[in-house]
Amino acid sequence: MKAIVIGNWKMKITTVIDAQILARSVEGSLRSLESTDVVMCPSHVHLVPVMHAGFGGIMIGAQNCHKEPKGSFTGSVSPTQLRDIGVSYVLLGHSERRKAGETNGDVNIKVRSVMRAGMIPVVCLGEDTRDDTDSYKEVIKTQVRESLDGVSSDELASIIIAYEPVWAIGSKANRECTPIECKQAIETIHETLGEMHQGMIRKPRVIYGGSVNRDNVAGYILHGKANGVLPGRASLDPDHFVDIVRIVESHN
Ligand code: PGA
Repeated sequence: MKAIVIGNWKMKITTVIDAQILARSVEGSLRSLESTDVVMCPSHVHLVPVMHAGFGGIMIGAQNCHKEPKGSFTGSVSPTQLRDIGVSYVLLGHSERRKAGETNGDVNIKVRSVMRAGMIPVVCLGEDTRDDTDSYKEVIKTQVRESLDGVSSDELASIIIAYEPVWAIGSKANRECTPIECKQAIETIHETLGEMHQGMIRKPRVIYGGSVNRDNVAGYILHGKANGVLPGRASLDPDHFVDIVRIVESHN
């Protein structure tokens, strides 16, 4: 299975020129990858400029979209519009969107709209806090069941699920997630999918996100059962991001 590294730029790049420089620097250093897909997710307004700046070797993802293909939704961007400009992936249910009120039900509708438009959803989920009980498992199971309800096992095989424990995300993270904690959560995700679709043969890629950097990434791939990673802060520094991609490529 190919690994995947998805850079989530969030709303941290404020000018077109900075977005283009970042994209070009990353792409220029990442020719000839064999077993790793690379995706960069700029803000909506930077999607087209970033595509124009690149050499076409790196895929582009959006950070969110509306659930409807078109309509009276002032200020929103639809999956159809994203597909039309050449976007391939869309992050859905990121914890920063969930904090703004997005529910598993909303994510579920968006997953279908994104697939219908011909793009790949990256469904982000993860518990808010982790203690030494198994309570995180119930949170994850509910998120998987509700966000992916009604998605067929064939469709599931082509989507990406990102385990992103909220307590390990961003500069205010409590601490790093360990590879073992990552593995436990990813196993819970696969277990839940197995319950939803008995005999599921092709499995989706499940990746890890939350304070990923060049020093800890190998652990998530080698011991955490992750098929890739979703770095936020580390995706804004081209050298750092390229190192992460190379490490993933060499351990996959
Ligand atoms: P971080 O962000 O790598 O800066 O913790 C990850 C994310 O929010 O997707």
